[in-house]
Amino acid sequence: MSADTPLNDQLLDPLLPPRPVAPYYDPSQDAWVISRHADVLAALREPRLRLTNEPKEVSDTGMQSRLRSETLAALSTARLAEWQVQIEPLAYTLVDRLPGGHPIDILREFARPWSLATAVIVTGADTSRAERLASLARQVSLATADPADSSLQFAAAEANTELKQMLRDSTIPRSGAVFVALSQTLPCFLANAWLALLRHPEELARLRAEPDLMPQAMEELLRYAGLTRKISRYSGATLKLREITIAEGARVILLLASANRDPEQFPDPDRLDLTRRAAGPLAFGTGPHACVGASLIRMAASVATRVVVERFLESPTIAPVEWCGGSVFRWAASLYVLLRTQN
Ligand code: HEM
Repeated sequence: MSADTPLNDQLLDPLLPPRPVAPYYDPSQDAWVISRHADVLAALREPRLRLTNEPKEVSDTGMQSRLRSETLAALSTARLAEWQVQIEPLAYTLVDRLPGGHPIDILREFARPWSLATAVIVTGADTSRAERLASLARQVSLATADPADSSLQFAAAEANTELKQMLRDSTIPRSGAVFVALSQTLPCFLANAWLALLRHPEELARLRAEPDLMPQAMEELLRYAGLTRKISRYSGATLKLREITIAEGARVILLLASANRDPEQFPDPDRLDLTRRAAGPLAFGTGPHACVGASLIRMAASVATRVVVERFLESPTIAPVEWCGGSVFRWAASLYVLLRTQN
């Protein structure tokens, strides 16, 4: 089964991550599994837990931190403001073209085309090549979502090479990765965030009534519906991580989505509360490898969510949700809503 084939098992609901438990070694994965917030935080801050199990000299940390700084500089607050001025009116234009009167799949009709347009604007890609770029980005993204499906990995490597080649004139560092994240990862996150809102009509109504709540609401949506279920690390030395000892070379799986539902960190963690002022959500990781695109995603996701909250209502005929993706990312395949009549 490929990662974009809808999966119909409710047990796979990404908004119901596994409960956080004490760290344990899972022989079936040959890895430590870490899910409590305090343990995941300690792991993310531990420099000897590395992104790959390649020898130290191969994983060049100097180059990695230079690229990080360059990317962060390219995504400055001033640039974000410039992009927001372009993508906000575009969102309203797209929605204004949609037909009223019957349920609309807002992922297919709005989130995906708007996210693709956003990726084109941010990377400065050639608009006439947007569809080809989107198709390549989709292959890369599906392989990331479901690393266990080896058939996706080969196609993704080829797609990635072509994507980088097509975007070689972009002024944005790592433009291929940026294009994938904006055109693919962003709409998948929006799918889960909006599903969370549709499942909590009282919170949706609150955000509609109090649009200034958006920055706080977005943090809560990232905590509750953040897309990345897990990330991996490899131990560069035998080390103690709180209660456990991890041998050199061991693999460590960090369940970010579970950590974001840890009652020790977030009281009543399974409740979506858009007024929550929670410290420490881990949707973008933290520490030396924290996501450099976090501010861009916060801005873009807030723009799109504001439009959806203003212009759409939950449809009384929501079909059962189907899931796409795999063990790393999983998202709602479609979301049907109704356009609100303007007053
Ligand atoms: C909804 C969209 C996104 C999600 C859910 C997401 C999530 C994450 C997470 C969880 C990490 C930490 C990985 C780890 O510690 O192993 C990460 C790292 C990273 N993200 Fe994102 N990200 C998103 C969008 C973006 C965008 C738009 C960019 C573009 C600049 C980006 C660039 C990066 C980079 C370069 C890293 C690695 C940083 C490093 O290793 O130093 N991400 N992302």
